[in-house]
Amino acid sequence: MIEIVGLTKTLYSGGHPLQILHGIDLRVPAGEFVAIMGPSGSGKSTLLGLIAGLDTPTSGSVKLAGQELVGLGEDALARLRGRTLGFVFQSFHLIPTLTAEENVAVPLELRGDRDARPRARALLATVGLAERGHHLPGQLSGGEQQRVALARAFVAEPPILLADEPTGNLDSATGERVLALLADLRARTGTTMVLVTHDAGLAARADRVVTLKDGRIDSDRRAG
Ligand SMILES: Nc1ncnc2c1ncn2[C@@H]1O[C@H](COP(=O)(O)OP(=O)(O)OP(=O)(O)O)[C@@H](O)[C@H]1O
Ligand SMILES: [Mg+2]
Repeated sequence: MIEIVGLTKTLYSGGHPLQILHGIDLRVPAGEFVAIMGPSGSGKSTLLGLIAGLDTPTSGSVKLAGQELVGLGEDALARLRGRTLGFVFQSFHLIPTLTAEENVAVPLELRGDRDARPRARALLATVGLAERGHHLPGQLSGGEQQRVALARAFVAEPPILLADEPTGNLDSATGERVLALLADLRARTGTTMVLVTHDAGLAARADRVVTLKDGRIDSDRRAG
């Protein structure tokens, strides 16, 4: 479960404050699939980064599975993230010196799984990259890197999956395949999913659509 209360984020650029998030309150029950929508610059990626503890809020609180993130030390935060979160960045963030298969295997190796490499290989095959496991990220297209990033995010079957535009660089057939994988992950493991998307087709599959506008929640409605 994700619980966000009174979340604000203000940045200072050139000495001037720029408020990006204005008091966001959001509660996502375990197992829910929420799509976050809204125009470019409305604060979607900023919000997702705060939920993941990758960035610190100016004020407010973020709790994952009952644990407050704000004020947690780096090590405790890293452990909590490792246990509970899968994250797909808008810009992928694959490790450039590791092959696709090695990138996907990282979360499993971090928790000591012996079959990390074969599992990574199998998941790459499911996202249509069976032949590309030995390639470095720089040798893959944007859509291929995105599929590697998705595979890395859900290989360890995290209780919470956060993804920023997970189908943004994919053609519709590949996008459908990724959505089917997400649906399968959710059906098997009850994963809570928060996905930022501009894709109305993806949003239509969510339980709930939250729309941001100028750093505020503009609407929050049940979908489907
Ligand atoms: N490091 C930063 N310095 C200055 N401004 C920033 C920084 N990061 C984000 N912003 C600004 O904060 C606002 C929200 O950015 P954010 O990336 O969260 O938007 P977004 O909704 O994810 O947009 P997009 O759909 O284009 O990905 C934007 O106006 C952006 O320019
Ligand atoms: Mg964004």
